[in-house]
Order: sequence, then structure tokens, then C-alpha cells
Amino acid sequence: MGYKVVVAGATGNVGREMLNILAEREFPVDEIAVLASRRSLGTEVSFGDKTLTTQDIDAFDFTGWDIALFAIGSDATKKYAPIAAKAGCVVIDNSSHYRYDPDVPLVVPEVNADAVLGYTKKNIIANPNCSTAQMVVALKPLHDRARIKRVVVSTYQSVSGAGKEGIDELWDQTKSIYNPTDDKPAKKFTKQIAFNVIPHIDVFMEDGSTKEEWKMVAETKKILDRSIKLTATCVRVPVFVGHSEAINIEFEEFLDEDEARDILREAPGILVVDKREDGGYVTPVECVGDFATFISRIRQDSTIENGLNIWCVSDNLRKGAALNAVQIAEVLGQKALKKG
Ligand SMILES: NC(=O)c1ccc[n+]([C@@H]2O[C@H](COP(=O)([O-])OP(=O)(O)OC[C@H]3O[C@@H](n4cnc5c(N)ncnc54)[C@H](OP(=O)(O)O)[C@@H]3O)[C@@H](O)[C@H]2O)c1
Repeated sequence: MGYKVVVAGATGNVGREMLNILAEREFPVDEIAVLASRRSLGTEVSFGDKTLTTQDIDAFDFTGWDIALFAIGSDATKKYAPIAAKAGCVVIDNSSHYRYDPDVPLVVPEVNADAVLGYTKKNIIANPNCSTAQMVVALKPLHDRARIKRVVVSTYQSVSGAGKEGIDELWDQTKSIYNPTDDKPAKKFTKQIAFNVIPHIDVFMEDGSTKEEWKMVAETKKILDRSIKLTATCVRVPVFVGHSEAINIEFEEFLDEDEARDILREAPGILVVDKREDGGYVTPVECVGDFATFISRIRQDSTIENGLNIWCVSDNLRKGAALNAVQIAEVLGQKALKKG
């Protein structure tokens, strides 16, 4: 006997990827329902070799469904997640709405799989921000060996992190640059994104950081270790899919770059591609459609006592969202629901 699974936001970037990953990983699905807003009622989406028709979330009865994978944004999550949870369906949510709620576990299975069991308080589990997810997968095995004191991270985040509208804006604006009569001013982003980079993701906070940067700090503490200090600069770049991060790590103990490379090679969810030659590293276009978090450019930072630099790349729609959500569902199944 398998699970009755709901995918909410099935017409979006993350929702479509969730359906692909459920099929690819052969998640034991007995029955599946795909939901979106009333706008998309009747839209067809693919699930393996099947075509499914989207239903309106507003009219959907979650009673009797086991797991709902949500990718519908914070406002809609706030409205619909409690309804699903109250009906006995465990919600695995991709929005930021529940991430900082002490009664909701925030889970990256390679890092804190056991935290899933905390779902019983609200029947909800949160998925982290895309930039945090891939980073903590890389940090965890290094932290276990040498205790991380401080992290300085700069992100290079693709436009798909801003949903369907983000992808459309980069595509249309890129074309319009060659056709001046077809001006496409910034709408989703705050400045031109085509052939540009924007050091601003999500809203500004009082201290001058952005909410995206704050999320990386708060989520790393909740998932990995509250004692880790982290400072981030989050930047949007004109890449369609795949987030990259330059991560500088300061440890309590010395960690040699060769040992770090060996540790990362053995770590779950990670693929090391690190040759000190032309092209001996991974770029975002190469990670699209892959499950792994790729690590390259592993090298000592000799400006501090126990420092290391790494380059971390992953498909933000997969490890940063859909894959992580499906992995959570797998762990939930193994540890708690026990069907399939
Ligand atoms: N993209 C990423 O890298 C990433 C990573 C981590 C987390 N997330 C989070 O995942 C969520 C979805 O992101 P996305 O990139 O997939 O966005 P998207 O491509 O814009 O898709 C949004 C989806 O949500 C649905 N939706 C919007 N408002 C709704 C409502 N009121 N009721 C029901 N459904 C509604 C849309 O349905 P319609 O077609 O009916 O509009 C669509 O299916 C967001 O919370 C985002 O922050 C995204």
C-alpha cells in the first residue's frame, strides 16, 4: 500500500519539478491530486507518463490524503496549510511561512532527518530556502569534523528562484535588448536582470541586510547549529536555473584541504568535481536536472588560522526545493507513516 499524495502549486516551477522527482524516485504513490489556484483549473501537467488535470485548491477536500507537497507561496500557504493539516494530511511546505515556527521542523534530510518526527505538533514540515539547503548539505560533514565557527557566503542565484515570472522576465528582457522597439522594463526584479547582476533578493531589513540574507542565517542555525555565525550577500544573476555560492568557512580546528575534499567525497548528496585546470569545476548550467550538490574549488584560506574556501552549485528547483521536499516525504514515510 502506498501514499495518497497531493501536489499543490503543480503548475509552478517547483510543483512541476516535484511531480518529476516523485516519478523519477518511484515514490510509492497510490493516488495523486494536483492543485493550483482557480486561474489554472483544468491545466494539464505531467507525472511520469501520465497527464494529470489541475484542480482548484479552494474546492479540494484533504480528508483521507496522506501527504501534501506545497509550493504555492507564503500567503496561500498561510490559508491552505492549516486546512490540509487539520484534515490529517501532513503538509511539506516550500514557502517561508512556517520555517521559523518553533513547532514546525525545518529539514534537510542529509543534515537533520530525525527532526522530521517533530511534524506531529502541527502536521507541517518546512523546507528551507534554496540557498540554505545546498549550503548546509556541504557544511554538515565539515562541521562534524572540525566545528564551524563562522561562514561568509556570497550567492549567485538564478532567476527561477523567483518563480515563473522570474524566468519570463530574463527571457523577454534578453530578447528585447536586441530589439530596442520592444522595451521590457524591470517588473519582477528591481533592476534590469538581462546582462546584469542585482545585489538584492527579497525585502530590506532594518540592519541593511535583505530578507534572503537573513533567511540563510536563521535557517542555518535552526537546521545545523545555533552557534554558527554566518554573514551572507545574496545576488540575483542572469542564469535560468542553478544557484552558485562562494563559501568561506572558519573552523575551530585545522582542516586540511585534502582531508576536506575526502570528507566531501564521502558525504551524502554531494559530488566533488575539483580539478585545478580549465573547466575542472561545476557551473550552474551543468547542474540542471541533477540531484547532487556539486562542490568545486576546495582550497585553504591562509588569511585566517583555520580557513577553507569552497564553490557550491546545485539545481535550486531540485535540492533547493522539490527534491528536498520529496526526500522529506521519503523520511516521513520511513520514520513515521510507514506505508509503501
Ligand atoms: N523556485 C525556487 O528555487 C524555490 C526554492 C525554494 C522555495 N520556493 C518556494 O516555492 C513556492 C513556489 O515557487 P515557484 O518557484 O514554483 O513559483 P511559481 O513558478 O510562480 O508557481 C507558483 C505556483 O503556486 C500556485 N499559486 C499561486 N497562488 C496560489 C493560490 N492563491 N492558491 C493556490 N495556488 C496558488 C500557482 O498556481 P497558478 O498557476 O494557478 O497561478 C503555481 O502553481 C514559493 O513559496 C517559493 O518561495 C521556490
